[in-house]
Amino acid sequence: MNDRPAAGVRVDEARLTSLVEQLGRVGAQSSGGIIRPLYSPPWREAQDMVATMMSDAGLSVREDAVGNVFGRLAGDTAGPVLLTGSHIDTVVHGGAYDGALGVLSAIVALEACAAAGGTPRRTVEVVSLCEEESSRFHANYFGTRSILGLVAENEPELLVDPDGVTLAEAARSVGLDPARFSDARRDDIDTFLELHIEQGRTLVDAAIDVGVVDVITGFMWLEVVVDGRTDHAGATAMTNRQDALQAAARMITAVEGVALAEGHPAVATTGVVRVHPGGANIVPGRVEFTIDVRHPELDVLDQMVAAMREQCAAVATDRGVQVDLQVVKKTPPHTLDAGLRAVLQQAADTCGLTWRELPSGAGHDSQTMGTHVKAAMLFVPSVDGRSHSPAEYSTPHDCAQGASVLATAVRLLAWAPPQSDQQ
Ligand code: GLV
Ligand code: MN
Ligand code: MN
Repeated sequence: MNDRPAAGVRVDEARLTSLVEQLGRVGAQSSGGIIRPLYSPPWREAQDMVATMMSDAGLSVREDAVGNVFGRLAGDTAGPVLLTGSHIDTVVHGGAYDGALGVLSAIVALEACAAAGGTPRRTVEVVSLCEEESSRFHANYFGTRSILGLVAENEPELLVDPDGVTLAEAARSVGLDPARFSDARRDDIDTFLELHIEQGRTLVDAAIDVGVVDVITGFMWLEVVVDGRTDHAGATAMTNRQDALQAAARMITAVEGVALAEGHPAVATTGVVRVHPGGANIVPGRVEFTIDVRHPELDVLDQMVAAMREQCAAVATDRGVQVDLQVVKKTPPHTLDAGLRAVLQQAADTCGLTWRELPSGAGHDSQTMGTHVKAAMLFVPSVDGRSHSPAEYSTPHDCAQGASVLATAVRLLAWAPPQSDQQ
């Protein structure tokens, strides 16, 4: 922190809180949390609501071919665009802040910058990205990849949700035309800033106002299929079974063991298990389960997956079952742009707030965006470190402080410096 009195661009806390509450009602479940997967009716409603919010903030709104929504504030000089925002899709029973806070903070930040400084020097846009969570399809940052031209032509037909609906069919159901998806590609962006909740407890435990992310973890998703033999649960002796679930249970324990043996920050999670045919009196013949495995060093991540393959194969041999393990998603770790990180730190100092550099154990659009443009991330404290849960919460004060740092950073990058900042 510096000794100057707190300055910077301040966003309106009540306005940001109200936007978070409004968007948080879209896809909200009576049983708790939000379900807003890509190209679902609540997703459509959310993107339409965000478009209205952008328009109310004085931005020119446009939706691209894949459903990313942009709000633009044209600058008075030509040149590449500074983009800021995040995603509005959610995990199953997720919270109101993951992704959404980055979109809504960007809207109020641009509004505050324009109110204080008029027309920007360079063009700035807010983006509400269509997909980050892979909660319906293994779409792996579909909005960002579409902007960067990284989506394969056949992908919309190949990606299928658990009900057998292709991504292309889902897109049509919300009024988008998959034949035009490649139109979403842009090459006029050179900078991406993403505000996000931390989703862990580093900031809250240390009572630090905002985090500046240095590295985003790498991660892989694996789908494992274990094939045994269905049998009568009463008439088949314990010594004469090929129980796929008993084998899968040992594999899942071995997967956790690989992460524990590697030690922090390695993590591995099984979040989905499907047992077939699924009868209380049938020995399970097939089990499918997922593995989410993460580490910020690519070599270590690869070694962990190799160890998991080896251990699952050993369990399969021991239990007399077959195992097939496929990598369905791989995102390498990414170190964020040093120059932009310095701007975020300067912005936090200008606002009179404390900051800390920290890694991200969650995946983010910035790690893919950062492979093509300069990218940086700002974290807001998560109460109790909770996320991907209805318990996810960040206080209005912390959210507004983060959005003010974002606004101040955007002003530094896109507006002519105000007289008071010139020495
Ligand atoms: C995204 O939220 C992820 O890290 O899984
Ligand atoms: Mn997110
Ligand atoms: Mn998430």
